[in-house]
This record gives sequence, C-alpha cells and structure tokens, in this order.
Amino acid sequence: MAKLLISGGKRLNGEVKVQGSKNSTLPILAATILCEDESVLFNCPKLTDVDATIRILRYLGCKASRSDSTLVVDTTDMTRSDIPHDLMREMRSSIIFLGVIIARCGKAKMSLPGGCELGPRPIDLHLSALRQMGIEINEEHGELECVAPSGIKPSKIALSFPSVGATENIMLTAVKANGTTIITNAAKEPEITDLADFLNSCGARISGAGESTIIIEGVQKLSGCSHSIIPDRIVAATLMSAAAITSSKITLDGVILSHLGAITPVFENCGCELSFKEGKLTLDAPYRLRSPKLIRTMPYPGFPTDAQAPVMAMTCKASGLTVFVENIFESRYKHVDELNRLGANIKVEGKIALVDGVRHLSGAKVRALDLRGAAALIVAGLSSQGHTEILGVRYLERGYDDFEVVLQSLGADIKKI
Ligand code: UD1
Repeated sequence: MAKLLISGGKRLNGEVKVQGSKNSTLPILAATILCEDESVLFNCPKLTDVDATIRILRYLGCKASRSDSTLVVDTTDMTRSDIPHDLMREMRSSIIFLGVIIARCGKAKMSLPGGCELGPRPIDLHLSALRQMGIEINEEHGELECVAPSGIKPSKIALSFPSVGATENIMLTAVKANGTTIITNAAKEPEITDLADFLNSCGARISGAGESTIIIEGVQKLSGCSHSIIPDRIVAATLMSAAAITSSKITLDGVILSHLGAITPVFENCGCELSFKEGKLTLDAPYRLRSPKLIRTMPYPGFPTDAQAPVMAMTCKASGLTVFVENIFESRYKHVDELNRLGANIKVEGKIALVDGVRHLSGAKVRALDLRGAAALIVAGLSSQGHTEILGVRYLERGYDDFEVVLQSLGADIKKI
C-alpha cells in the first residue's frame, strides 16, 4: 500500500501549472456519449476517478485512449445501456451516466451509488427531475431501471437545492428533449459552465449556464468536438494553502481568477500578498499567518466545500481562532482528528469546527480518510517539524495528478513509497 513521507519545514518556491479540473472532466466524459462520434479532450488530469469513468465508457462499448493529458473518446459504437455494480461502486459520481444513457438509448440500468466517505449522498433531486421529464424509474433491490417510453419531455424544473450533479444530469438529458427545458435554482459552479461549453461546441443549445436559470433547447443530433478542460480551482486552493502554511512564495500558471472569487480573499485576510498577471497567480505568504476568522462553505460563488479541508490545515498555524461552518456535506470533518495528531487544536461540534492556531505542528503517522482530507494532511505535513507519514494515498489519487511530483518541483521534501 502506497504512503507519503514528508520531511516538513521546507519553504516552497517556483512556478507550477495547475492541472485540469476533475469535476469538469467526469461529466464531460459522460457527455461524449451524446455525440455518437469522436471527441478530443485536452488538459485531462491523470486520476483514478478519470480511469474509473473510462472503464465505464469502455464497458458501454466506447473507445478511449490517452496521450499525456489528451483523451480521445469515440462513442460511435456504444452497444450497452447498463452499468454493473462493481463499476458503479468505484465512484459515487457515476450517477452522471444516468441521463446521458437514457438520452442516447431511451433506457438505462445501473445500481444506486449509495453512500460515500462524505456521508449519505442522496440522488432524489436527480430522480425527481428525470421523472418530470417523462422518464419512468423503477428502484428495486438497489437497482435503478429507467425507460423513456415517449422520449424526453421538455419541463420546467425547480431545484430545491442547487445540486451540481443534479443540474448536470438534467442538462445532459434535456439536450435531447423534444423542446425547451428550464432549470431554476441551478448550480452555478464553473464546472457546469464548462460542461455547457463542451455541449454547445457539439451542437447543443444551452444558455444561462453559470447563472441560476439554465435554458436548454433540445436538439436531434450532436457531433464530437475538441475541448480544453478548465483548470482545477480546488487544486489551486490546495497549492495556495501549502505555500501559505510554509511562508512561501509560489506562482500558479493557468489559473482562472474569477473561479477563485471566494478563495483569494481568505488568503488575503491571512496576510498573504496575491498578484495576478496573464493567467498566473503569485502568492507571497508572511512569516506568520493571521486567522481568516470565519469560513462558511456554500454553493458557488460561495466558498467551496472541497477547499474546506486543505484551507483548514493552513489555518492550524494561523494566529487566532478560525470558525468553519460546513453547510454542504455531513461527515466532512474526518481530517480533524488526524490534523490534531499533528499538533493542531481543532474542536468540532456538528457542522462547526473551531481552529485555535498553534505555533508548531509536529510530524506523526496519519491516515487520510477521504480525497480532500488527504490534501489537508499534506498541507499540514509540509509545515510540521520532523517526519510525517500519510496512509490512504489512494484517496489523493482520485483527484490530484502526481501531486507529490508537483510539490517536489516546488522544493518540498515529499516522496511516495
Ligand atoms: C459535486 C462535486 C463535489 C463537490 C460537490 C459540492 C463532482 C464530481 N463532485 O458533488 O466534489 O463537493 O459537488 O460542490 O462534481 N443532495 C441531495 N439530493 C440530491 C443531490 C444532492 O440532497 O439528489 C445534497 C447532497 O447530499 C449534498 C448537497 O446536496 O448535501 C450538495 O450535493 P451536490 O451539489 O449534488 O454534489 P455532487 O454533485 O454530489
């Protein structure tokens, strides 16, 4: 089993390119099914979640090949409309295949994704929207069986919460509806806009992505296109946290500043100097960080829940108290006990976490229990005195492309064994 070894206390220095976004790549890969054609995707990160998505595409009869960060997917000869349990189980977000398979084949069969390491992750919003679109769904023994007996019905869908996955599933289904679908209270995340940009390049007619009302005019046919995946704003936030906690100065290349609108003020409040020029963001951290006081996770454009763990790791050494309020997922404080093992002082009560900044962290053996928690332990380990050993590296590999190599290039003493 792989583990990471960090010898903490080194300052980081230099410039790195931020990888492509995981949360854009996964739905866009699913969307290629709608094209019945070849699509070329640039800037795709090498991640185990991307590999799991490719395994599903191949099971369905599609072809996929990779050359560095370019993926070529040909969905012309798709033959199946079911996904077996062992492939669904690998990644909870495989539910994103539901709408596209129905839109292409008129039916779909897959197992329910179930819970995950972030607690229960219901799909009621996905299913009620699909039912509104005329899809008959039978849920039995953990299996979903869906048919669209009269095609996909255009609808007005008002989401009770701006769920990212539900917004994507509705968009992907509605692209092939017999008329216009309107989603209100839609998720506004940049990954939704990236998916709409990909689909529009393939011939879809989607407007309003990135706003709370999205309008999708159904079309008969889509064809493949070339598309470049947006940079990963959570990886950017993780690298910024790593630089801030180690009092470093680093530059991130390929950043879209507007996607970091709720993230950059947190670092400025901590005393970091930020400058942005021609797609490059430079962060210059002070000797001692100040607490950013209050961080509440919210749907975009609020502070992203995915950045909560790595940013919390940074605040462990910021002077003063920081209050975190996790509003999106239950069970998203699993990294807290492990950060405390490194000498942090964090208390959790329900959805609140109170971080009392300490002067020093000290290396220990810790275990990652989820993807962003793994990133948090790395951030803390980089500034801990002595050696930190991190188990559970498989979680990190779901979302960070060769992260230890990226950190080594900035001068960190980190290795995977
Ligand atoms: C996506 C991201 C994930 C991110 C999350 C929130 C991908 C692959 N994953 O996950 O990294 O943390 O957005 O920004 O893009 N909910 C329901 N019913 C539903 C759907 C969701 O109650 O049918 C609830 C969830 O339990 C959760 C909240 O809504 O509490 C947000 O979930 P959602 O926005 O759907 O997240 P995901 O799409 O699963």
